[in-house]
Amino acid sequence: MKDIHQELEDRRQTARLGGGQRRIDSQHQKGKLTARERIELLLDEGSFEEFDMFKTHRCTEFGMAADKPAGDGVVTGWGTINGRLVYVFSQDFTVFGGSLSETHAEKICKIMDMAMQNGAPVIGINDSGGARIQEGVASLAGYAEVFQRNIMASGVVPQISVIMGPCAGGAVYSPAMTDFIFMVKDSSYMFVTGPDVVKTVTNEVVTAEELGGASTHTRKSSVADGAFENDVEALSEIRRLVDFLPLNNRDKAPTRPFFDDPARVDKSLDTLVPDNANAPYDMKELIAKLADEGDFYEIQEDFAKNIITGFVRLEGQTVGVVANQPMVLAGCLDIDSSRKAARFVRFCDAFEIPILTLVDVPGFLPGTSQEYGGVIKHGAKLLFAYGEATVPKVTLITRKAYGGAYDVMASKHLRGDFNYAWPTAEIAVMGAKGATEILYRSELGDSEKIAQRTQDYEERFANPFVAAERGFIDEVIQPRSSRMRICRAFASLRNKKLQNPWKKHDNIPL
Ligand code: HXC
Repeated sequence: MKDIHQELEDRRQTARLGGGQRRIDSQHQKGKLTARERIELLLDEGSFEEFDMFKTHRCTEFGMAADKPAGDGVVTGWGTINGRLVYVFSQDFTVFGGSLSETHAEKICKIMDMAMQNGAPVIGINDSGGARIQEGVASLAGYAEVFQRNIMASGVVPQISVIMGPCAGGAVYSPAMTDFIFMVKDSSYMFVTGPDVVKTVTNEVVTAEELGGASTHTRKSSVADGAFENDVEALSEIRRLVDFLPLNNRDKAPTRPFFDDPARVDKSLDTLVPDNANAPYDMKELIAKLADEGDFYEIQEDFAKNIITGFVRLEGQTVGVVANQPMVLAGCLDIDSSRKAARFVRFCDAFEIPILTLVDVPGFLPGTSQEYGGVIKHGAKLLFAYGEATVPKVTLITRKAYGGAYDVMASKHLRGDFNYAWPTAEIAVMGAKGATEILYRSELGDSEKIAQRTQDYEERFANPFVAAERGFIDEVIQPRSSRMRICRAFASLRNKKLQNPWKKHDNIPL
């Protein structure tokens, strides 16, 4: 008996070494942790339970029959994050460069199936040279099996990808279909075709980092939702994110203890909006002052900064925040910000996370690049996303809400449950100056008259009361009491039930 137990221990020991100490050392030298070290940091201590530790590939080509490392380049299993169940796979770069074989894919599929069956998130740690070259189409088939599961799991369980090394070729499409992608600066990259192919085809000379590093994907392409300094920071931030999320689409996000009075009054908010209607202010200050303990988990912080998206808690409950940022492009909507916010709103709606919308929007960004780029279609995404969302929706207009952008930003007409405005709100078709120049075109030469007309328009429309008179704004509230009012509004909506008509699926403009 003792020998049998010893054999198990020996086999486990060998499996834990993956591709061997030399390759583990090389991984460390690159500033990267191993697949197992990553899992240990991600999950609660001692909670990891492994599947398929001894699974090996079945390839016999290219001398592979003689080289069958246990686990086949991916560590899979389940564990907990702050006591809540999650499934995880972590690709082991020390085994054939973490490349994906048929059996490697089977391991990933197994935990994805379990996650779907048991209603828990899937966290994928990617560090892979892509398709296992020795296996050919069997590897491609494996990818497609994973893709299909990504698609089926979308909107059912949260899926989070962490890119901690190479992720290239068609392999990128699994993370691409998950809810969030996070990268590690300087040690991860994602691209469909690498620098060599790019050079051959387009003559462009570009490094892997420039083409698909964390900075490229968080600032330019918006493929990634966030970038972290190193593996340790990335994994601890993923733990923080998971804490905001429900385990599946039938579950509510967890309620966490809070120490911040929901009725906290913040007088500084009374002066947040500057006297000059065109002067910027930082919308993040408002978010921090509304949130429990000022805690805000921002998503896509470095992309389309004219809109802010992320999670806060109010009375311990997760709320998704979408907010115009007057400090960037005056907070206007454009292609990038509409796409960014629409995806976020749809995530929240899919997972029953209430949405708080903070509005200060002068309209859509004009220009040929916007029109040629399809701002009509992309702006419609956000409108569509808000309109179809059935989760509790609370909206606060702090200043401008002009034109179509007023409608888009979770207005009453898109089934907003509580639509609040500060006394500084200006809700109109457009700004006073633009409106006057159109209405009184014949008087344009007379600057005195135009100034008077502009002032008249401002007095009539640059306030929240015209909208409030019609019930489009439920209440004009004091800035200082915003946290209390918003917390109470969400509390009253906890049992909200609203269903859209049956359909196979909608046809959101893509
Ligand atoms: C098999 C692979 C491999 C792969 C790496 N290795 N990629 N084995 N299949 N795809 C092995 C190497 O042979 C090496 O083995 C070990 O992993 C580490 O690789 P190195 O090259 O030494 O590491 P590094 O210098 O860090 O370079 C990493 C790399 C490079 C940039 C990822 O290995 C690389 O270019 N690999 C090929 C990438 C590729 O073309 N993949 C197919 C893409 S197409 P030893 O024994 O020396 O440790 C694709 C399609 C997916 O993925 C389609 C889905 C639909």
